[in-house]
Amino acid sequence: MAGKKVLVVGATGMVGGLATQTLVGRGCAVAVAGRDAHGLAERSNRWGNCPHRSFDAYDLEGAAGLASWASQALGGLDTVVVAVGVAGFGRAEEVTEAAAEHLMTVNALAPMAVVRGALPVLEPPGAVVVVTGMIVDRPMRSTADYTAAKTALAAWLGVVEREQRDRGIAVVDVRLPHLDGGFADRAFIGRAPRLPRGADAAQAVARYVIAPITDAAARTG
Ligand SMILES: NC(=O)c1ccc[n+]([C@@H]2O[C@H](COP(=O)([O-])OP(=O)(O)OC[C@H]3O[C@@H](n4cnc5c(N)ncnc54)[C@H](OP(=O)(O)O)[C@@H]3O)[C@@H](O)[C@H]2O)c1
Repeated sequence: MAGKKVLVVGATGMVGGLATQTLVGRGCAVAVAGRDAHGLAERSNRWGNCPHRSFDAYDLEGAAGLASWASQALGGLDTVVVAVGVAGFGRAEEVTEAAAEHLMTVNALAPMAVVRGALPVLEPPGAVVVVTGMIVDRPMRSTADYTAAKTALAAWLGVVEREQRDRGIAVVDVRLPHLDGGFADRAFIGRAPRLPRGADAAQAVARYVIAPITDAAARTG
């Protein structure tokens, strides 16, 4: 993987942070994006002062421009990892319209904008690795809006995967299982139901986020 040029969006989060740490360790050139500008600058510092840019999910044009910025900063781009998301809980009638909009924007529209902006910029062989969640296949009560957003993103990625296949750009929908690390406790609305113990986050990121990048490079290279 050494020498790969990778944009990680959501690098301030647990999954994005673990993925970036691994990619840097394996000799990739990395550019990182996240919402918390201060936290992002600190992490960039730890990752060899890699290029960093903050953005908010509600700025969809800004999200769409991240790949082009990263490509300029790194002198090209072949891989994008998107690990942006926020949980939300509550029966459908308890979720406000504002919260529903927030969940759809952060979990679906912003990741889609990042990928949409990346497709013309990516140089094959390349990969787009986007975290959705196991919830797409196994929805739970009190997660209708979160599940709907992740499922919309998964369906969109499924079509994009077919569109990009012949171009040498692998599009990977990562349906992560529930991990340790407190994602559900950072919910935008509502409280998480009692959840079983999460899987080990570092192992899950290695298996579900990093391995597909190596596999995609082998398949499309
Ligand atoms: N952890 C799990 O158990 C689990 C399981 C299945 C799927 N997933 C999915 O995996 C992804 C990452 O999860 P995680 O555990 O790493 O979560 P996390 O630690 O809470 O990180 C979430 C990331 O999303 C960013 N984000 C949140 N709201 C944003 C906004 N309005 N604008 C821009 N960025 C925003 C955060 O930015 P800041 O920190 O800078 O605010 C952070 O980089 C999410 O898509 C999640 O749905 C997680």
